[in-house]
Amino acid sequence: MEQTFLMVKPDGVQRNLIGEIVTRFERKGFKLAGAKLMNISKETAEQHYQEHNDKPFFGELVSFITSAPVFAMVWEGENVIATARQMMGKTNPQEALPGTIRGDYGLTVGKNIIHGSDAPESAKREIDLFFNETEIVEFEKNG
Ligand code: CMP
Repeated sequence: MEQTFLMVKPDGVQRNLIGEIVTRFERKGFKLAGAKLMNISKETAEQHYQEHNDKPFFGELVSFITSAPVFAMVWEGENVIATARQMMGKTNPQEALPGTIRGDYGLTVGKNIIHGSDAPESAKREIDLFFNETEIVEFEKNG
């Protein structure tokens, strides 16, 4: 079954949006296969955001994501990578539609509440970066 990595960012955690966000994905029908509240090290943040390391906002990005706890999650279900991104809305909350997480709760592109993997390769890379095998449960062994 397809899996994706989702993370409530420091702004979402501080605004008490973990429950709301988990509820949305549960109600959609996805399964939470792993979750933890954690502080991210600078090294992990730099690895996680490696594709942005030449962007002018890279320093700001790393410093924000390491500034306070995040809620890291692995979600599972059919087409979960693309569907989760639809449910999150566009990266810039000003462009995200109402009804999406960023459209409903975000205001600025830097503090956009949630991160989600954009493709199967990044989902695998990000899950492996944040979780070890014993932290992820297996739901349906027969599919
Ligand atoms: P995320 O999905 O976590 O992936 C990269 C992040 O970079 C993105 O969400 C935004 O939060 C952040 N980002 C993108 N553009 C900018 C920008 N112009 N200034 C600050 N942060 C940005």
